[in-house]
Amino acid sequence: MEKILVIGSAGQIGSELTIALRKNYGEENVFATDIKQAPKDVVEGGPFQILDVMNEKNLIHFVIRNKITQVYHLAAVLSGNAEKLPLQAWDINMRSVLNVLDLGREIGLKKIFWPSSIAVFGPTTPRVNTPQLTVMEPSTVYGISKQAGERWCEYYFNKYGLDVRSIRYPGLISYKTEAGGGTTDYAVEIFFDAVKNKKYECFLKEDASLPMMFMPDAIDSTIKLMEADADKLTIRSSYNLGGISFNPAEIAAEVKKHIPDFQITYKPDFRQKIAESWPASIDDSVARKDWDCKYEYDLPKMTKVMLEEVSKKLNK
Ligand code: SER
Repeated sequence: MEKILVIGSAGQIGSELTIALRKNYGEENVFATDIKQAPKDVVEGGPFQILDVMNEKNLIHFVIRNKITQVYHLAAVLSGNAEKLPLQAWDINMRSVLNVLDLGREIGLKKIFWPSSIAVFGPTTPRVNTPQLTVMEPSTVYGISKQAGERWCEYYFNKYGLDVRSIRYPGLISYKTEAGGGTTDYAVEIFFDAVKNKKYECFLKEDASLPMMFMPDAIDSTIKLMEADADKLTIRSSYNLGGISFNPAEIAAEVKKHIPDFQITYKPDFRQKIAESWPASIDDSVARKDWDCKYEYDLPKMTKVMLEEVSKKLNK
């Protein structure tokens, strides 16, 4: 019987992954935690507790007391926010993953999931169809912390046999929780502003192409990777995942098909430079081969669902 701990269950991924895991493993077997209150369905749909991953003593007690066998550690400071408080973000992102990895080694967790990001790549990486193995010189604090985290995951796998699995997520698009200070979050904000005001001021330039993914595809991929046979996995740092690539002008054109008088304007800020340092598209052939990753949503299909769901959420 698996007992799963989700750290960061109030966040963009956690608030949806927790619900999906509870469907698969049983409500009472998925323990949702965060340092802040999570959405209602997470809190009421199974065990939820406030827990700070930075406090390793509390973490280990929680894991032992609840006989946890798997941990999904999703808490992190995202790229835009991390640039505002670099050392604090580094401390949170690094110490939390090391706490979880070392806990896994110490008490023999069966599996750990930890998310990495396209932010591990940098300005010297080939930008189009970025391969799994390539130059990685990230220029953001967030990217450096994710790259270091990947190295530590692989190290714990090689040295201690810890079954850590990871995905380099593209920008994630979802309607359940608010966007959380990332560079790719313009592609979430645009839907909320389009529904609310029929206009959006974008903090990236119109041609800033980035790889993106709709949350249902991200959740399916995560669960698929975690359920794959361990001996099929050839990557123990983190798997490239491609999703769909588009730029602000392309998503705006798609929104306009549903809201004809929608207007977008551009006022690039410091995040434009971050976007320019990240890939425009990703080669995920290794993930496809190892664990058969695939996606359901393209830009038109995602846009339709996003606009419907955001409208419902905002009562429009
Ligand atoms: N979506 C994240 C960000 O923009 C990258 O993983 O920070």
